[in-house]
Amino acid sequence: MESEIQSQKEAHRSEEAMDSELSKLGSNLITKFHVLMRISQIYDSKNVALNQFIQESLLAINTFIQREGNLCLKIVGDDIFLNEQRLRYSVEGFNSFKYLVTQWKRRFIGGVLYKEILDEETMREFIYILMGLEEGREENAALFNEKLRERHISSIEVSPLEVSEKEEGAYTLGKEDSREVAKKVFFETIGTFKELITHIKGNQHADVRKLKRLVRKAVHLVMEDESILLGMTTIKNYDEYTFNHSVNVAIYSLAMGRRLGFSRSVLSELGITAMLHDIGKSKIPLEVLNKPSALSDEEWGQMKKHPLTGVEIVLNLKQLGEVNAKMVVGIFDHHLKNDLSGYPKLFRKKRVSLFGRVIQIADAYDAMTTPRIYKKVPFTPEQALAVMLKDRNVCFDSILLKMFIGLVGVYPIGSLVLLDTHEMGIVFKPNPDSQWIERPQVVLVERDKRGEGMKELADLTERNGGNGFKRSIVKALDPNKYHIDIAKYFL
Ligand SMILES: [Fe+2]
Ligand SMILES: [Fe+2]
Repeated sequence: MESEIQSQKEAHRSEEAMDSELSKLGSNLITKFHVLMRISQIYDSKNVALNQFIQESLLAINTFIQREGNLCLKIVGDDIFLNEQRLRYSVEGFNSFKYLVTQWKRRFIGGVLYKEILDEETMREFIYILMGLEEGREENAALFNEKLRERHISSIEVSPLEVSEKEEGAYTLGKEDSREVAKKVFFETIGTFKELITHIKGNQHADVRKLKRLVRKAVHLVMEDESILLGMTTIKNYDEYTFNHSVNVAIYSLAMGRRLGFSRSVLSELGITAMLHDIGKSKIPLEVLNKPSALSDEEWGQMKKHPLTGVEIVLNLKQLGEVNAKMVVGIFDHHLKNDLSGYPKLFRKKRVSLFGRVIQIADAYDAMTTPRIYKKVPFTPEQALAVMLKDRNVCFDSILLKMFIGLVGVYPIGSLVLLDTHEMGIVFKPNPDSQWIERPQVVLVERDKRGEGMKELADLTERNGGNGFKRSIVKALDPNKYHIDIAKYFL
């Protein structure tokens, strides 16, 4: 009996492990595909410049087929399935993911089955037939198969896109899992924000309307269940600090705004202000922004200008109607500090605006808990809150800070904790009942042979049969010491 359970466990574990290796292969495949699809729109199919990209895609695809016998790539909703397994996307891979889904959907192609190892010529034909399809034609899949037959390619079969009713109103909450929606909003916001910054840097026309639409979706999510979006802030992507940071600051600000009782429209304004709070940094050279050592006086001077530069940029946005005074002042204020000892220096005393005070707290917390080039090991959530409490009179509005601590909890979402059962857990969702503030829901950290995290949720209010609790938190731990990638548990 015991050995049966053991072998079941083993089977389960190897499934999980395979899952993760396949998902790595899958992500690589999507990235290579993305590049090839783009390149094919620049060069004609005979151009030698293509060869390298074809080879790379071939390698990715054939490795997969070799392992699995075949490869079935399918688009369902906004997800990609590879041999019936949903591909998890990452921050780095999201653009490729999105591109592939959009391009295939536009052409009404829903899936492809690769039945055997492909050769270079087949790959070339495949990509050019695909990208040559006219967008918006429902009969494209049939047409595609016909073209493959004409070229005597029998190793590939294409199927049409299945459009479900749900897709017509994308992001309809309730129908889809909110966590999935949150993920999409999160990654899409990062992508959109990135685009905006690129335009601003190049002094091109920058449109904030798309960003505003996404912020409205985020507001919707925060009103529903703030813990889901707060969980996304554990994705601390080191290389893309500015984008990640801006989105995280917006999430924390929205959650605070919600507790302050802001209306949806004010929340949207707060969200977009928070997202744009560091937009002035886009004019600071990267060498200064990412300098690993201390800044010179001159560089520090440049750095301190970013709130003002941010105001200028926002005022120069073409759609000025989208921006109001509250937003502009919020950006200007976000480093003033509570006692006005921050920057920019003021000629006349003023009170820091409410948006400014909210963003100041969200900004400090996210900056401290994220690894940076000059501080690779960040503070744990507890350490960051302790520092903020110490500085509360100088830097922050103490009432808002108290509220923020209540919001992120004694054990903020994403904290690594030690349980009295000797298990480790990651705080997943705070307990909504304030009397149980020390009993959140946690994901138990278990590791399979390959060191991959496995998800099992435990509610710390669960009783042990008697009067006690099944599990209780003993103390918070530092995830950096245990090499645990917290974000993994939220994706
Ligand atoms: Fe800033
Ligand atoms: Fe910031």
